[in-house]
Amino acid sequence: MRTDTAAAIHLEDYQPAPYHIDTVDLDIHLDPTATQVKATLAIRRREGVDPGTPLWLNGDETAFTGLALNGEALDESAYTANERELVLHAPPADPFTLEIRTWVNPDANTQLSGLYRSSGNYCTQCEAEGFRRITYFLDRPDVLSVYTTRIEGRKEETPVLLGNGNPVESGDIPGTDHHYAIWHDPHPKPSYLFAMVAGNLAHISDSFVTSSGRKVDLKIYVEPGKEDRCGWAMDSLKRSMKWDEDVFGCEYDLDVFNIVAVSDFNMGAMENKGLNIFNDKYVLADPETATDQDYANIEAVIAHEYFHNWTGNRITCRDWFQLCLKEGLTVFRDQEFSSDMRSRAVKRISDVRLLRAHQFPEDAGPLAHPVRPRKYTEINNFYTATVYEKGAEVVRMLKTLLGDSGFRKGMDLYFQRHDGEATTIEAFLTCFSEAASTDLGQFARWYEQAGTPLVTAKGHYDAAANEFTLDLSQSIAPLPGQPESLPAVIPIRFGLIGQNGEDITASRITGAEVRGDVLLLTEAKQKVTFHGIGQRPVPSLLRGFSAPVRMEAHQSLADLTFLARHDSDPFNRWQAVQTLATQELIRLTHEARKEGSLEADDRLVEIFGAILADRDLDPAFQALALELPGEADIAREIGKDVDPDAIHAARTAFRAAIGAAHLAAFHALLPEATQDEDFNPDAASAGKRALAAQALGYFTASGTKAAPERVWHAFQRANNMSDRIAALTILVHQDLPKAGQALADFRSRHSCNSLAMDKWFTVQATAPAQDGLERVKALTAHPLFDMTNPNRMRSLIQAFATGNHVQFARKDGEGFAFVADCVMAIDPRNPQVAARLLTCFRSWRSLESERSKHAEKALLRISAMEKLSRDCRDIVDRCLQ
Ligand code: ARG
Ligand code: ZN
Repeated sequence: MRTDTAAAIHLEDYQPAPYHIDTVDLDIHLDPTATQVKATLAIRRREGVDPGTPLWLNGDETAFTGLALNGEALDESAYTANERELVLHAPPADPFTLEIRTWVNPDANTQLSGLYRSSGNYCTQCEAEGFRRITYFLDRPDVLSVYTTRIEGRKEETPVLLGNGNPVESGDIPGTDHHYAIWHDPHPKPSYLFAMVAGNLAHISDSFVTSSGRKVDLKIYVEPGKEDRCGWAMDSLKRSMKWDEDVFGCEYDLDVFNIVAVSDFNMGAMENKGLNIFNDKYVLADPETATDQDYANIEAVIAHEYFHNWTGNRITCRDWFQLCLKEGLTVFRDQEFSSDMRSRAVKRISDVRLLRAHQFPEDAGPLAHPVRPRKYTEINNFYTATVYEKGAEVVRMLKTLLGDSGFRKGMDLYFQRHDGEATTIEAFLTCFSEAASTDLGQFARWYEQAGTPLVTAKGHYDAAANEFTLDLSQSIAPLPGQPESLPAVIPIRFGLIGQNGEDITASRITGAEVRGDVLLLTEAKQKVTFHGIGQRPVPSLLRGFSAPVRMEAHQSLADLTFLARHDSDPFNRWQAVQTLATQELIRLTHEARKEGSLEADDRLVEIFGAILADRDLDPAFQALALELPGEADIAREIGKDVDPDAIHAARTAFRAAIGAAHLAAFHALLPEATQDEDFNPDAASAGKRALAAQALGYFTASGTKAAPERVWHAFQRANNMSDRIAALTILVHQDLPKAGQALADFRSRHSCNSLAMDKWFTVQATAPAQDGLERVKALTAHPLFDMTNPNRMRSLIQAFATGNHVQFARKDGEGFAFVADCVMAIDPRNPQVAARLLTCFRSWRSLESERSKHAEKALLRISAMEKLSRDCRDIVDRCLQ
């Protein structure tokens, strides 16, 4: 167990490794508790390094069993070997080979990092620092080697043997019940991209012909019996391969591409070269058990991991500080892919909602860090919404600033110049500044500064001068370790809308650089003047959410209502509704706190009627526009002295008012209309289902007598998981009479499918009822619950902590205490998963004082735990700092 309080690692201390490892030959003899690994490394001193410089290799709980240098055993005084390291004190001056023998116990590996077993199958997870748990190595992303992997196992236990790269050879071992397979990956890669899988797996196959005419064999491996749920993933893979050729000119580079789905996995999925390993949640789907959101997620994650082949694998990171180089860029690429597959506007709105829900709070609290952090103690804690999602926003801004062709030129140059390298954000940006002949010095601040910039805008129309002026400002609130910040380049896509709803063009714009419909805010304060404006315009700012900022545009109710109806930019139409709803929800929250009237403003209630009545709108867009800001969004906007009960009361009251005011419209949209059609997972059908689900929710929220029966009816008639889970959620969250029966029905229907049962746990974990916490505690003892499986744990505990504000942040502190207990119970087995759960405390300081005191107490209890992992230590220390 790692219990040491490790020192921080700093970006500025980066030094290249003193040795190269050109080839790695692995010979792995599988055994559930005693796997033997022989690693033969061809090592070469880096130019300029003094001969005899010690070779220091990483280990982590690594069990040393033997060492030879150039084929000869070594005297014990020549090296040091322990759990954490293998040091060769005086290596030869000339290239040499090192043969390292280690021993691994996959069954005992509960951290799910390194080589472990999932449902009896062997699999690996090496990013970020798992390879060192298999053998001693220069386990850092800038050491690139060509790998050959020989895997040997009992034929019966491990009929399938998979490695990176291309299959080379396989066969039986005469006179034994063993067989072997040899895989060779010709592309030099860092150790974090190593993978192997062995076990009893079923698969589906297909193939893809690349743009240059090479045929690639595609296979998806799953536990036997799950093969019929892989079709959508395979379809998504083929579309991803084609899209990356069409849009980025990236072709696949091996003869095979394998995906393996496992049921015990810490994160979403992993882009190991030629052998992606996935959390089965992001592979398996059929209409009976997967929601539309699951289908969309699978498409996106399959694409994401596939796209890493170029952005991550062919070009990798010099060090882990550059993580956003591959993750932010690859998220951007998968978002673009989904936008091309589906509705771009709906995808953009969904992505911004996620960014605000996860990244904004991270960036406003004790866990805030720049997209490229400067220090870390545990790298696994930096696979964050900031690195991924804000990282993607930064790439998107680059595209906005340079235009489509400038951006593509920069990407082409990046691929051409850095293929085969481990590189940096600076090198990436240089490709764009060269390709587009532009200076990106100030833009680079987006990678260096934490915090969400607040942009304010105040418009003023001068009729006499035919001028419209905007007073703009930007600032970032002080953060721990960042008391001050510098102005960034903020691209603001804008339009000025005239009374007829059409955009007006200015004859001239002064006070800011303007590129097309994007103006560049580069100073802390800027006055921008639009000349030749003959009527008072309504400004539409930050169209398409052109920068990851908070915008305060001080617009009147009339102007926002106007934007909600007339903006030609669908994102800002949606945003106008959100802004209005947020303002009203904040007002109602204050009322709730002083036990005032919870009556919603009719003018705001009416906005939703207009959305429902607009037949030109895409149903998916209508569904999103009808979704009120979440409780966490409202809390974030309020910012301090937060009372989750008041927020909940306000939101519930507002929903009831909207439901009651537009009862007939919602009634007309109830799910029955969609249920008789054959299930189709496409975006259009999903949009109709989403709208029907919203209608059912509001219909019930209205309190109309007919609702409980209608929801129960919808639950029973559902022919797909989206409709079924939508109805179940309403039954349980509104505590309707048939809730218990529906839960029992769902359970008996899906008890054999753990991914479907995860939804059953989540629905209950997120129910805001008074006894919500007691219910969750009881469910931890349910026979289908398993705290040791990350997906199960997240479906109940993490869902409770992040999706049930009123119960998690209970005034009596019991919600915090329960989650703290869970963190402490999980930590000894799986620190990564425990630390992730622990981040749910990150906004504790913004709660009202009684609740925040309880949260602090829970954090202090975790902090006092003996043998707390480095992962949790890091999070708890930062939360308390
Ligand atoms: N690179 C993976 C991805 O595509 C994430 C792996 C993170 N794993 C970890 N243990 N930190 O997003
Ligand atoms: Zn990734």
